[in-house]
Parts: sequence; structure tokens; C-alpha cells
Amino acid sequence: MSDVILELNELHTHFFTDSGEVPAVDGVSFKLHKGEVVGVVGESGCGKSVTSLSVMQLVPNPPGRIVSGEVNFKGENIAVAREKRMKEIRGNEIAMIFQEPMTSLNPVYSIGNQLIEAVRMHKKVSKKEARNKAIEMLEIVGIPRPSEVVDEFPHQLSGGMRQRVMIAMAMSCDPEVLIADEPTTALDVTIQAQILDLMRNLNKEQDTAILLITHDLGVVAEMCDRVVVMYSGQVVEEGTVREILKDPKHPYTKGLIRSLPKLYEKEQKLYSIPGTVPKPSMDHVGCRFAPRCEFAWDRCVEENPDLYELGAERKARCFLYDEKEKVTEGGPQYDEADPRG
Ligand SMILES: Nc1ncnc2c1ncn2[C@@H]1O[C@H](COP(=O)(O)OP(=O)(O)OP(=O)(O)O)[C@@H](O)[C@H]1O
Ligand code: SF4
Ligand SMILES: [Mg+2]
Repeated sequence: MSDVILELNELHTHFFTDSGEVPAVDGVSFKLHKGEVVGVVGESGCGKSVTSLSVMQLVPNPPGRIVSGEVNFKGENIAVAREKRMKEIRGNEIAMIFQEPMTSLNPVYSIGNQLIEAVRMHKKVSKKEARNKAIEMLEIVGIPRPSEVVDEFPHQLSGGMRQRVMIAMAMSCDPEVLIADEPTTALDVTIQAQILDLMRNLNKEQDTAILLITHDLGVVAEMCDRVVVMYSGQVVEEGTVREILKDPKHPYTKGLIRSLPKLYEKEQKLYSIPGTVPKPSMDHVGCRFAPRCEFAWDRCVEENPDLYELGAERKARCFLYDEKEKVTEGGPQYDEADPRG
């Protein structure tokens, strides 16, 4: 499709540590279309952050680096772009906001200076005009006393206010893609809703495509068009938000959905998937979810399943969706509790 703005293609990012090579991102592929909001979900340690850092070439090196694969941004493979080109892209064509904005705001410059710099990188305007624009942006993102805050320093603001500044910064650059890695996790619920609103406006009004990394399926339901589910460095399922929430295919996704608290249910006994995500390893054999999967059979511990196509941009990495299994003797018996729904 020609409206693809960002495409990860068989991306592999490994860490080379004293205790061995860690394939944190192990052949990840997915697409982000113009103006679309795609959620990346999965438990802690599954490779969400390393995936997003790889897109920006911000993986700490050493110990990490992209070992193979492509990150195509409007047709250019930026996984191999030089640092000079990445500097043009970062914060300009692709903006990024993190869970803790203190790490991306410079503590020694005032908010205004950082915003003015961002504005002037993008538009030829005088310092005075850029300052006015900065104040206007602060006002748009709901910062009280914007004409005072513009001269304050990051440490003088609360976490929620800093996140607003990051969004103002992203907005002032009019990026084509925004990567938001757990942007609201550290914030309380009310502030969280406001920050999500701001991101939604950025998406609707400036048509910015958003890659939203979160472990919160509630946020996904509210914000996303499509969802990519990751498990132990791999994509295990992909689909529209409706498909993923209403008709999950992969046993792992089914478990994630089951562990969502149900509104209006009196007895709140929360389900959680037993076990933990295995640490990515070079010697994985079999399906990585097999030790936790209630449907696993012998094939699952012998081979790693492919990402089977179930429709246009609808995929699941599970042998239950291998056409062959439907005819093979000794395959899984679905009759009673057909996990394929
Ligand atoms: N600097 C590093 N050195 C070695 N391994 C690392 C490093 N950073 C990340 N990893 C490994 O990469 C894997 C993926 O980590 P990542 O931070 O992407 O997970 P995540 O999905 O973002 O988790 P969370 O939800 O906790 O943010 C983990 O197994 C982690 O141990
Ligand atoms: S391939 Fe087997 S172990 Fe893996 S998720 Fe599917 S049924 Fe479970
Ligand atoms: Mg993370």
C-alpha cells in the first residue's frame, strides 16, 4: 500500500552482553499507515522499547545494535542512515515521547529555549516570533501561566506538565510520525486522559501517525486503529483494535484480554497468565509461549511457528492457524474448547 509511512521489515536488534547475545527484537515486521494510530502491546521485557529505540537508532551501543532488517520511513531505510540524517529525522519528521520526559528535556535550558529551538529548526521565524509561538503551544497543551512557564526549567514542572511540554515540542515540529513509549504510565488517571486527548488531537488535526507503546489495553481500546502484540522479541498477533479485543486469535492475546478487569462485574477476581515472559535467547526452540500455553502440543515445543496470515494485516504466530494442522493426524483436538473462537 502506498500510504505506508513507516515499515519495519524483519528487524533484529541484539544486545551483546557478558552473559551472551540477547535477541531483544527478533525479526519484527509491521506497518504504520499515514494518519493511523497503531498500538504495540505486550508484557514487560517483550521488546517494545527496544523496537521503538531501534526506529530512531537510539539503542545504546554498546551493548546493543541493529544486526539486520529494515526500518523504511517513506521508502528510505533509516536503519542504516548516518547520524547526520538521523539528527534531521529525530524530533522533526519523527518525534518521540517517553514515559519519563525528564530524560528527553535538557535540564540546563529553560522550557522556552527548548521549544524555541524546536520551532526555529522547523520554520524560519525570528526569536521573538518563535517565543510567541512557544507560549501559544504551551497554552494549547493546557499549561497554566504559559508566559511564565516558558522561562522555567524542567525540574520546576510536575511529571504531567513535563509530558505536556514534550507534546508541545512534538506538535511544534509537525512530525509525520509520533512514537510514544508508555507516555502516560507515570501519570495519574485524570492527567493521563488529558495527555491522551492531546495525542488524539495531534493525530486528527495534523494527521500525525502514532506508534503507541503501552501495556495498558484500556489505552489501546481508546486510542488505536490497529494493534501489534509482541511476545519475547517477536510479533505474535496483529489486527484491528476491534479484532484484537473482540476476537483475539493467539492464546497469549486471549490471556491478555482475559486479564482485563471487567466493568460492572461484582466479583473482581483478576485472571493473570501464569508464568513469565522468557528472556530472549539465541537458543530458543519451539513456540516461545509454549511453557504458558494451555493449548500446547508436541509440535509447539519442537518448532517455532510462523506468523500465519489470517487476512489483510491480520496475523497470528500459532500452529493452531496452520492450515496443515486441520488435516494432520495427531494434531490438536479443538472440538471442546476451540481456542480459534
Ligand atoms: N541495555 C541492555 N542490555 C542488555 N539487555 C537489554 C538492554 N536493554 C534491554 N535489554 C533486554 O531487551 C529485552 C526487551 O526490553 P524492552 O525494554 O524493549 O522491553 P519492554 O517491552 O519495553 O518492557 P517494559 O514494558 O518493561 O518497558 C529485555 O529482555 C531486556 O532484558
Ligand atoms: S503454537 Fe502452540 S504453544 Fe504456541 S501459542 Fe500456539 S498452541 Fe500455544
Ligand atoms: Mg519499555
